[in-house]
Amino acid sequence: MSRILDVTGLEGGYGKVQIMNNVDLYVDEGEFVTVIGPNGCGKSTFIKLIFGIATYYKGSVKHKGDEVSGWRTDSLVNRGIAYVPQVDNVFPSLSVRENLEMGGINLSLPILEERITRSLEMFEDLKSRMNDVAASLSGGQRQMLAISRALISNPDFLLLDEPTAALSPLYQQQIIERIDALRTKGITVLIVEQNARLSLARSDRGYIFANGQVVHTDKASEILVDPHINEYFLGTKKD
Ligand SMILES: Nc1ncnc2c1ncn2[C@@H]1O[C@H](COP(=O)(O)OP(=O)(O)OP(=O)(O)O)[C@@H](O)[C@H]1O
Ligand SMILES: [Mg+2]
Repeated sequence: MSRILDVTGLEGGYGKVQIMNNVDLYVDEGEFVTVIGPNGCGKSTFIKLIFGIATYYKGSVKHKGDEVSGWRTDSLVNRGIAYVPQVDNVFPSLSVRENLEMGGINLSLPILEERITRSLEMFEDLKSRMNDVAASLSGGQRQMLAISRALISNPDFLLLDEPTAALSPLYQQQIIERIDALRTKGITVLIVEQNARLSLARSDRGYIFANGQVVHTDKASEILVDPHINEYFLGTKKD
């Protein structure tokens, strides 16, 4: 199995404010890897650093063996990396179709059409809503749209920041299932989640962050049954 992402000693933040400290993390091709940890521990910042939208300080970020630390987002997209942000991930006043088109503004029309069709294969629910504004979609449908839009660039590595946040349990389950199914299309998944159990249940491995650092990593199946991890990071700690 080859390594799609290999991060060692990564440090970075926002301008001069350092958030991430000496992070080591890897993802192999075909894996589903979940990052969990308390609010404000740096999960979103980590993903933003990988995707070139937070301030890189030092350390190594290798994508398929090539050093890409500090690279611009557009170059990372060209390499096959895509990102679905935690918030504001659709344009509410644009239609579903227009949102999808925004994901491929540099593509020729025939290729764009083909990509839209392909990205909707996993999200059939959106097909009947193509001309509706995104603001009229349910929370779960919006997440599906955000993920579909990320797929327009034809990635093989998808970074997802809390795709189930603020969704009803039914939608949470559906979204995680759809994301897992992307693996059958050759897409490797790195996901940041508050719904740790739901996501770990589908994952190969997990990382636990605290204060901008990795404090634990293991097989997802081990994390799910680790009593200490349960207490502190999965929200079952009793006072
Ligand atoms: N644009 C920014 N400028 C400065 N500091 C920021 C910025 N965005 C986030 N931070 C700070 O970086 C730290 C880590 O935030 P981050 O959003 O990465 O946490 P998180 O683990 O994703 O939290 P959550 O689970 O709430 O989404 C926090 O202290 C936060 O206040
Ligand atoms: Mg976050």
